Amino acid sequence: MRRRHRIDCKLILVSVLFISLAACGPNPNSASDNSSTANAAPSSRSRMPADPALKSLYIQSCYGCHSAGVANAPRSGNDADWAPRLQKGMDVLLHNTINGISSMPPKGMCIGCSDEDFTQLILFLSGQSE
Ligand code: HEC
Repeated sequence: MRRRHRIDCKLILVSVLFISLAACGPNPNSASDNSSTANAAPSSRSRMPADPALKSLYIQSCYGCHSAGVANAPRSGNDADWAPRLQKGMDVLLHNTINGISSMPPKGMCIGCSDEDFTQLILFLSGQSE
């Protein structure tokens, strides 16, 4: 019994320390993250291509639908969303991106994107470029 009591005291001390430390850290994003991302993993929204040129194409076109899964768009970096798509093969995915597929408009609204840009964007979206 005595021993157990000592352990409990230690635990409480550690918890108090942890809570006070956590309370110190400013975290202005946590409130909005929780309220606006109910349907999408936060990571899909914050993922960005490392290459600056690709990043700007991504933000101007694909991001609007693929970050949040608008109209059931496969979400960026979400393995479960992309697994059945990847099974079609890269050629088919590129073809469907350029020509459009169901509610996705042709070229994913990136009029200036080259085939190479689309390939890189698809690899990024599906998590294959990491
Ligand atoms: C207006 C919304 C929208 C935009 C913008 C958009 N997509 Fe999509 N995308 C979708 C939707 C919705 C689907 C799912 C279509 C379906 O039902 O199969 C999809 C599916 C895809 C697929 C899977 C195709 C397949 O054959 O399964 C790829 C690849 C893709 N998008 C790439 C892109 C790329 C790259 C961009 C940016 C250049 C982009 N999308 C921009 C809505 C969008």
